[in-house]
Amino acid sequence: MTKLKQTRLTRRGLMAGALAGGGLAALPAFGQSASASPMDLRAQVAMKRLLPEQYGMTEIWGYNGGTPADEIRVAQGARVQLRLVNELPQPTSIHWHGIRIDNAMDGVSGLTQDAVETGATFDYDFVVPDAGTYWYHAHTMSMEQVARGLYGPLIVEEADALDIDREEILMFDDWLVDPATAQIDSDFDAAHDQSHAGRNGNYIVTNGTFGLTMQAKQNERMRLRMINAANARIFELRFSGLSGWVVALDGMPLAAPQPLEEFLLLAPAQRADIIVDVTAENGEVAGIVAMINDQQQPQVAFEVSGSASQNRRPDPGALPPNGHTMVSLEQARRINLKMEGGAMGGLRSATLAGETKGFRELANAGHFWAFNGAIGLMESPPLATLERGQNVRLLIENDTSFPHAMHLHGMHFHEVASDGTLGPLRDTTLVFGGRSQEIAFVADNPGQWLFHCHMLSHAASGMIARFEVA
Ligand code: C2O
Ligand code: CU
Repeated sequence: MTKLKQTRLTRRGLMAGALAGGGLAALPAFGQSASASPMDLRAQVAMKRLLPEQYGMTEIWGYNGGTPADEIRVAQGARVQLRLVNELPQPTSIHWHGIRIDNAMDGVSGLTQDAVETGATFDYDFVVPDAGTYWYHAHTMSMEQVARGLYGPLIVEEADALDIDREEILMFDDWLVDPATAQIDSDFDAAHDQSHAGRNGNYIVTNGTFGLTMQAKQNERMRLRMINAANARIFELRFSGLSGWVVALDGMPLAAPQPLEEFLLLAPAQRADIIVDVTAENGEVAGIVAMINDQQQPQVAFEVSGSASQNRRPDPGALPPNGHTMVSLEQARRINLKMEGGAMGGLRSATLAGETKGFRELANAGHFWAFNGAIGLMESPPLATLERGQNVRLLIENDTSFPHAMHLHGMHFHEVASDGTLGPLRDTTLVFGGRSQEIAFVADNPGQWLFHCHMLSHAASGMIARFEVA
C-alpha cells in the first residue's frame, strides 16, 4: 500500500479516487496550508446509469455529479477545506457525519448555519481529530436530498498504515425507484413511510451498483469500510468465504478486535470497519449478503483467483485509539428520553411549539413522533443545556413499535450495557421497539448538537432533539 503524501489535494486527485475496486494509492492528503484554496464540492443534478441496461438513466443528485460521491481521504489531524457550490434547485448544506467538529462547521441548516441557496457557496474549514470511517451527506431536507444521492465517504487515515493487502469502501443504500421510468420516487414525505419504518427502497446497491463484484485472492487480507447510507434500512450483513474481525464502529476503534459473528447489523448512518481474510479458495466466490425479507441480497462478491500467500497472516491487533475523554458514570447527570409515536400504538397528543395538539391535527401536519411528549423540531428548546465537560448518561426508552437509529452530532458516546459496563464508542445507536438503550458521554464540544433519528423520515416527522453545550 502506498503511503499518503502530504501534498495539496487537487481536483484531479479527488476525481481519481475510484470507489469500486480502487486502491488507496490515488489520493493525496489535504494540505495544511491556510492559504490553499478550498476544493469544490458541487451539489449537482446528474444522470446516472443506476438500473441495468434495459432501463433508462436515472436523475440523481450528487456531489460533483457522483453518488456515492468521490471519497475524501485525509490524514488524521489534517485541516479540511471544501467549498460547497450549490447547483441544485433547492437550498442545501453538508454535514460531516461522525466528525468531532467545530459547531459552526456541522452543516445543520437552521441551527449551525443558514441553508446555502441555489447558486451560492459555503466554505467548510475544519480539522479531523479522529482517524476512522466517516461520511458526509446533505443536512437540509435530508430525507429528500440523501434519498436523491447526496452523500460520500470521508476517510481519515491513521498515522501508520495497517498490515493489510488492500482496503475497500462499501457504501450500502437502497433506492426507491419506479422501474417504468427509472426515476427516483419523489414522494419523499409519504405519510405511510413517516409513520412506519421510514422510506425503504426497492433497489439495493453497494457503491451504487447492484451485486457489486470484485476480484480477490485466497488469504488476501482486506480492510472493509462499510457505511450504511440508506434513509431507513437496517442492513443485516452475513459473510461467506471471509473470516475476520470488527475493528472499529462508527469510526472509533474497538479496544480489541472482535471476531465476526454470524451477522452484523448496520443501522442507517452506522459504519463498521472489518479486517477479513479471504478464506474461499481459488475459483470460489466470497462475499457479503444482506438478509432482506428472508432473502439473501448480494451486496458484494469477491471472485477468488490465485492466492496472496500460503497461509493466513497472524491475527491483527487493535487500531490505535483516538484520544477521547473517559466518561464517569458515577458523576454523570442523568437524562431520560422517551420516544413515542408512529403507527401501531402512536401518539394521542403531544406538544408542538409549546401547544398541545391532538393526534389528527398532528398527523395532518406530518408529525408522527414525539420525544418526552413534544414533537421534535429544530427550533424546539434543547433537551438539556450541559456544562462544558459534564458527564451525561442518557436513557433512551423506545416506546414505539419501530427501531430507531439515534445519532448524536459533535461527540461520540459509549453504549452502556444493562450491567452498567461501557460498550463501544459510537455516534449512532440502534434502539429496537419496546427496548431501552443507555448511552454516556462527556459533553466536551461546545455548541448546539442535534440528537435525532437517522431514519430520515422519522427525523422529518418529529424525532429531532438537540443538546446545548455551554
Ligand atoms: Cu448523519 Cu444529523 O446526521
Ligand atoms: Cu426513527
